[in-house]
Amino acid sequence: MINLIKGFHDILPDESQKWAFITNKARRCLERFGFREIVTPIMEKTELFRRGIGQATDIVEKEMYTFDDIGGESLSLRPEATAGILRSVVEHSLLRHEPILKIFSIGPMFRRERPSKGRFRQFFQINAEVLGDDSPLTDAETILVAFSMLEDIGAKDFSVEINSVGCRDCRDKYRSELRRFLQPSFNRLCPDCQRRFETNPLRILDCKEPECMRIGADAPLISDWLDASCRDHFDQVKTALDSVGVTYRVEPRLVRGLDYYSRTAFEFVHSQLGRTKAIGGGGRYDSLIEELGGPNVSGIGFGIGIERLAMNLPDEGALFQSKIDVFIAIIGSNARGPCFRIANQLRKLGLSVEARYSDMSLKAQMKVADRLCAKWVIMVGENELTQGQFTIRNMKTKNQLLVELSGIEQVVRGEEI
Ligand code: HAM
Repeated sequence: MINLIKGFHDILPDESQKWAFITNKARRCLERFGFREIVTPIMEKTELFRRGIGQATDIVEKEMYTFDDIGGESLSLRPEATAGILRSVVEHSLLRHEPILKIFSIGPMFRRERPSKGRFRQFFQINAEVLGDDSPLTDAETILVAFSMLEDIGAKDFSVEINSVGCRDCRDKYRSELRRFLQPSFNRLCPDCQRRFETNPLRILDCKEPECMRIGADAPLISDWLDASCRDHFDQVKTALDSVGVTYRVEPRLVRGLDYYSRTAFEFVHSQLGRTKAIGGGGRYDSLIEELGGPNVSGIGFGIGIERLAMNLPDEGALFQSKIDVFIAIIGSNARGPCFRIANQLRKLGLSVEARYSDMSLKAQMKVADRLCAKWVIMVGENELTQGQFTIRNMKTKNQLLVELSGIEQVVRGEEI
């Protein structure tokens, strides 16, 4: 047997209904807020992610699936969606026709992280971006759409954490201050953080090594280094969130794992999974679109991990079960051919219909109907076919009725018997 790649996972038929439930709800919610779908490839030139996500991030430094194709070009499986989406927007000049663009995408991402509960090497994201609008109300609305989506899907026990990581100027000043603070403890930092000290010291505050956490506990906070306009922007985001009843916690240590963020950053954290395994996260980016060759406009977006979201929903329940309308229980082998045709006739009317054409007792077929959560069963043998009348059973009430073929649709769509 050839096994699955470590850290990858199958979505089996029983789980796929939950996935369909999540993605359908997500789509409907995003469309309510005016987002339209974009589908980009799962593979891009490696350079895009280096430039977009940042050379000094864990993702680009050690988590990408990168290879040279036969032509010698370095390609990578996408570790996140934003860079690819922006590449497409810039390449097709979408912002020229629509200066404020709201788009979403749903699909697999790939990161070679150490697998654990809720951490995979292939995982799926619902990703949304608003491009070309730097109003703080747009920040609030982007958080609101993610919040509403999680509510629609029925996610529980999650909280919203927000922070402002300032603009480039604030961050430059803060970075120097942070280095000054960390310098005396440099030798006690873990090897990764010693590297981050030069490349990206903000990430040290996010390190989970106990010694680094101890050192970072008293570090200066970015919130004290925001300039007046970044502070005002953040205040307006908070006021707007308050006005629509989104409860949030300001988390001054929230620094995201990707380099492109400026000003508002946020995460959706589940009480059991904790901050290291957020359900979703995102933020504003001021220079990413321009860096990828587009106009000098800002964007904001988020990604929600479907696996982490699915883990927090119950497995069972009528919610996720796709009920079929009619199961045809076939009595005797001579009835198989006619039942095959009846099934097709009913499907053409828009009903979902199932039957089993192999040798099976009526009892066994009724078990299948139960497992498939059939709403109705019709029993069809030679006698029924000759008389043109069939017993139809409501699987919930167990009541039965005799109907002609032409009356089945009416019963199925009509009142319960
Ligand atoms: P991110 O925080 O790296 O942001 O990922 C977003 C979400 O993807 C996480 O909160 C988590 O639910 C899920 N996720 C990430 N890595 C894994 C993993 N190894 N296994 C399972 N789930 C995972 C981004 O990717 C940004 N591109 C979001 C964004 C969009 N920012 C602006 N626009």
